[in-house]
Amino acid sequence: MTSEEQQYFITLLKEIRNGENSRFVSSKRFTQHGSTSVYRHSVNVAYLSYRFAKRLHLNVDSRALIRGALLHDYFLYDWHVKSQNRPLHGFYHPGRALRNAEMDFELSDVERNIIKTHMFPLTFYLPKHKESVIVCLVDKWISTIETFQGKNRLGK
Ligand SMILES: [Fe+2]
Ligand SMILES: [Fe+2]
Repeated sequence: MTSEEQQYFITLLKEIRNGENSRFVSSKRFTQHGSTSVYRHSVNVAYLSYRFAKRLHLNVDSRALIRGALLHDYFLYDWHVKSQNRPLHGFYHPGRALRNAEMDFELSDVERNIIKTHMFPLTFYLPKHKESVIVCLVDKWISTIETFQGKNRLGK
């Protein structure tokens, strides 16, 4: 990516981290896969989704792509701890992430759709935008790497 593109990514990451009501940094406390925190996983998915779109010269809404990807797992609980309130994390967490994100940020329709549909086809909500399809695919790819690498090379 160009240095401008990298800078743009960092600007949006800071915007999400430092938002007035943001709880994004608290996702560092929760493990996602292997030794990767939810925070690091979300940054990985956002960065690689953006990089993928730029590499393929896809005409995407970069702002929505990055912000939606950063917030796609904004569920803010430890999913390894069983709870009757959320019996099946895989089905439950996109809706919870969207509710949390709606509380803390102003979201666009594309950002909402990215969060809501990222678990397709496990959940039946269909990705409606190319940005949603990219995050859905990159999330699965990154999750597989994180799960099978005990200590993943993208870091915690
Ligand atoms: Fe997820
Ligand atoms: Fe994810």
